[in-house]
Parts: sequence; C-alpha cells; structure tokens
Amino acid sequence: MGERMGEPSAANGGRAVVVTGGAGPAVGSGVALAVARHGFRVWIADLDLNAAKAMAEEIRGEGGQADCVQVDTADPASVAAAMATVVEAEGGVVHGLVNSAGIGFNALAADMEVEDFDRIIAIDLRGPWLCAKGLIPAMVAGGGGSIVHIGSVHALATIPTQTAYAAAKAGLHGMARAIAADYGGHCIRCNVVNPGAVPSREAYGDGSLPAKDHWVDYMVRCQQFLHQVINPLDIGNACAFLLGDGAKSITGQAITVDAGMTTLLWSHTEEL
Ligand SMILES: NC(=O)c1ccc[n+]([C@@H]2O[C@H](COP(=O)([O-])OP(=O)(O)OC[C@H]3O[C@@H](n4cnc5c(N)ncnc54)[C@H](O)[C@@H]3O)[C@@H](O)[C@H]2O)c1
Repeated sequence: MGERMGEPSAANGGRAVVVTGGAGPAVGSGVALAVARHGFRVWIADLDLNAAKAMAEEIRGEGGQADCVQVDTADPASVAAAMATVVEAEGGVVHGLVNSAGIGFNALAADMEVEDFDRIIAIDLRGPWLCAKGLIPAMVAGGGGSIVHIGSVHALATIPTQTAYAAAKAGLHGMARAIAADYGGHCIRCNVVNPGAVPSREAYGDGSLPAKDHWVDYMVRCQQFLHQVINPLDIGNACAFLLGDGAKSITGQAITVDAGMTTLLWSHTEEL
C-alpha cells in the first residue's frame, strides 16, 4: 500500500529539491521546513545567504537534510550558476523545484514606472522559468521530477494597485501548464500553489489570532471562510504533496491554500 497523504514518505528520501526564497520568514520557511519534514533533501536557494544558512542549520537540527546556495533569481547568470552548483553537488540528478522567491509591489497601473514593472516580472515570473530551465535537464536525467510555482490568490482575483504582481502570478499558471506540456513525456510535472494571507512564522505563533491591528487578523475575520490563520507550513505541505508520488498524476494544475478567501462572494464584517 502507498503512504497516507500528508505523511512523510520513505520514497522521498534522497530526492533533492531546490526551494528558492526558502529562507524567508513567511511562505519560504514554511515550504523549506515542510518539504524537509516530508523526507526530501532541501536546497535553500536565496538572495540572503546568512538567512539561508540559518534555515539549513535549523532543518539539520531537527534531523532533516539541507544545504544552501546564494541566488538572485532576477539575474540569469546568478540563477544559471546556482542551479549548476546544485546539479553538480547532486551528481547530475535533481528531483524537484519550488519557486517561492518573490516580491510584491503596490501602484496604480498608470503610476507605475517601467523599471518597477520589469523588476516584478523579472523576480516573480522570469525567475521561476530560469530556475526551471536550470534544473529540467537534471530532472530528465533522473527519469522525472516535479516543479511547483508559488502563485497567489492575486492570480485568481485581485484588488487595486496589483497590475504587475497579479500579471506575474497569473503568468505562472500559464507557465506551469506549458512546462507540464513540454516535459510530461519525461515524467516531469509542473503545478502551482496559490497562498492566501500568510503571516511570518513569528507572527503566526501558536496559530491564535494575531493582534487586532495586524493585516492577517482582518483577513481572518472578514475575508476567509475558515476563521483561522494560515500557517506557512500549510503552504509547504501542499508543495510537499505535489512534489511526492502521491501527486504523480497531477500536472498543469493549481491548488489554492487560502482558507476560502477566493471562494467568498462578498466580505462579511462583525457588524453584519
Ligand atoms: N505571505 C503571503 O501572504 C503570500 C501570499 C501569496 C503569495 N505569496 C508568495 O509567496 C512567496 C514568498 O513570499 P513571502 O511574502 O511569504 O516572503 P518570504 O517570507 O517567503 O520571504 C521571501 C524570500 O525570498 C527571498 N528573495 C527575494 N528576492 C529574491 C531574489 N531576487 N532571489 C532570491 N531570493 C529572493 C528573500 O530573501 C526572502 O528570503 C512569494 O512568491 C509571494 O508572492 C505570499
């Protein structure tokens, strides 16, 4: 019998997975920790090398396997070098990639500068493609693999000031389908996980509602079906599932981990 979904799988042991932005305090840390706890060997690929080292140390401290490499996903040469470092260290075979490195930007469409738009697209859309490009040959060499893009609820619905971010995140959905089409014949799958409102793990704490003035508190009370804070690990667990064999027939799809935010027809307040 296969493993029960959501539990670490022995089949994942020894499989290397690169997590870009995996040193981040919010989604990135949740992905890195959850993927390691599901038995994968994690490479934290982040701009912030000190934070990446600390995350790798934390994972090793709890018995997981982790290493790190510095990368600027906005820079094609940096991505090529970082992915080549991982591929070489892994003897030419890499199983997975989670593209979590990303940044936000707020501006009305007509107020945004070309440089701002280009920077968001470079990090949030082109970077995930560059990382996939760098690792796909090592997935082909291993007989298959799994790529997960961290999208956003902004790919599905949005608010004012999100032109570049919403475009980039929606673009990841199209990119996932295209990569799934290109490499399905090599057993390489590509999917998206769309997080809702995810606080840093410090702010998440024990999962009780944060202070009233915290932005996540407003989301939980007024914009979600589930009145609970999304744990960064909730995003990571969805990624770990998509990386593993339990998802071996899932490709070109998106899973939205938003506690119901994008299904809500209109917002409700405590006054209603
Ligand atoms: N936190 C949320 O509520 C939320 C919601 C929806 C989507 N997301 C997505 O989750 C991902 C992580 O965002 P987060 O806000 O949780 O941040 P996070 O706490 O995961 O930190 C982001 C990490 O990315 C790294 N990074 C930034 N630019 C980089 C670059 N050019 N190259 C390499 N690394 C880089 C940072 O050093 C940092 O470690 C992003 O793709 C974001 O769009 C987050």
